[in-house]
Amino acid sequence: MPGPIQLRVNGRIERIDADPATPLLYVLRNDLGLRAAKFGCGLEQCGACTVIVGGEAVMSCALGIGRVGDREVRTVEGLAEGETLHPVQEAFLAENAAQCAYCVPGILMETVALLAWNDEPGEAEIRRALDLHLCRCGAHPRILRAVRRAARTLRETKG
Ligand code: FES
Ligand code: FES
Repeated sequence: MPGPIQLRVNGRIERIDADPATPLLYVLRNDLGLRAAKFGCGLEQCGACTVIVGGEAVMSCALGIGRVGDREVRTVEGLAEGETLHPVQEAFLAENAAQCAYCVPGILMETVALLAWNDEPGEAEIRRALDLHLCRCGAHPRILRAVRRAARTLRETKG
C-alpha cells in the first residue's frame, strides 16, 4: 500500500491519503477545505477549477494529485497577505468584475499566472489567456477591465 501523497499548497505541506488519480480539485475542496476553486464541467472545458501549479495556470479537475509532484499549488485562499488583498483581487473588486462570481476564482488565478511573467499584456494576450474561461453571466467587459487595472497596479508598484 503506497504511503500518503505529499502536496505543497499555499506554503503548507499536506499529506493526502488518496488514489494518485484523484483530481487535485477534489482534494483541494473535499480534503483541504479550500473551496474557492469550483467544479464546473470536470472536462477541462470551463476554467472554473483553475489553480496555479508550479507557476502555471492549470485546470485542477483534470490533474491527478499523483502528477503534481513537488510543484507548489496556489489557490485563491493563498493570494492575500493577512488583511491585504492581492492586487488582482483588488482590481476585480474595484471593477465590480462579477455577477454570480462562480467563474471568478479560476479567472483570478489565470490572471495572477499571466501577470507574473507579463505585467504589460496586450489585449490579444489577455483574451487568449482567458479564452477557455466561461462566464455565463456575461461579465467579460468588466473582467477585462479588471485584468488591465491589475496589470497597471503591478507595474506602478514595481515603480
Ligand atoms: S471544472 Fe475544470 S474546466 Fe470545468
Ligand atoms: S460572474 Fe457568473 S459565471 Fe462569471
